[in-house]
Amino acid sequence: MKKLLSALVLGAGLCAALSSTTFAQTLRVGTHPTFAPFEFVDSEGTPIGFDLDVINAIAKVNGDEIQIESMPFDGLIPSILTGNLDLIISGMTITDERKKRVDFSKGYYNSKLSIIIKKDKAQEYTSAESLKGKTICVQIGTTGHAFADKISPDNVKALNNEPDAILELTNGGCEAVINDRPVNLYYLQKANLDTLIDFVDPQFEKQADVYGIAMRKGNEELLNKINSGLDKITASGELDAIHLKWFGQDTKGRTAEQIAAEKAQAEAPAAE
Ligand code: ARG
Repeated sequence: MKKLLSALVLGAGLCAALSSTTFAQTLRVGTHPTFAPFEFVDSEGTPIGFDLDVINAIAKVNGDEIQIESMPFDGLIPSILTGNLDLIISGMTITDERKKRVDFSKGYYNSKLSIIIKKDKAQEYTSAESLKGKTICVQIGTTGHAFADKISPDNVKALNNEPDAILELTNGGCEAVINDRPVNLYYLQKANLDTLIDFVDPQFEKQADVYGIAMRKGNEELLNKINSGLDKITASGELDAIHLKWFGQDTKGRTAEQIAAEKAQAEAPAAE
């Protein structure tokens, strides 16, 4: 009896040890790197950006390795469903529709849509409503795509990425581009496109647009691990540092100068 008991205890211990060692893992992370500054490729073709820094930081605090897989945006969720990916980080908005197919981590970035038009059409296009029936360019499979389908169902051009959508707009192939605002602004600024402007429709202000990390439904262990990693990099200030690096502001909207000034003030000896 005693022998059996110790064998059982040993077995249980072994299982626990095994499961905790196998828990540190190499996670296959899918992204569509045509969405600067969240994910895009550097001159060597390596995916970089805000999302890559976030997932690397999470993996690091969890002791995991990651392997990045680039693929089209509309192939990401199917790849989770077939088991070819463990995670998606791709500026992916948490939506009820997507939640039917995958689980999402806590939100890690607050976004919203915006509409890019030609500056000389600014009098004509003042709202999403004013684009009814007009041709709208979008990035395929995105929330901007879904929105354009609602206002101009028969006239949506779905392109593979933001630069293609913008090119189509400047070439007169569509009247507007609807995509995530941080991406729109980053692109307009980088490409120095001062003949274009972006605006936010009041409808976009109302609806929450929060990015989450997606994974297979029902994998509690992975979900908890990613969420706790996210908590840790938030508490340590790392998420703020990543924000600052890509957006010139931390999560509270403070610039590097403001942070430095606040720090200096906090450290200064109290005035007598
Ligand atoms: N936030 C939008 C969505 O979830 C657009 C994301 C596009 N991301 C990308 N890496 N292409 O639909």
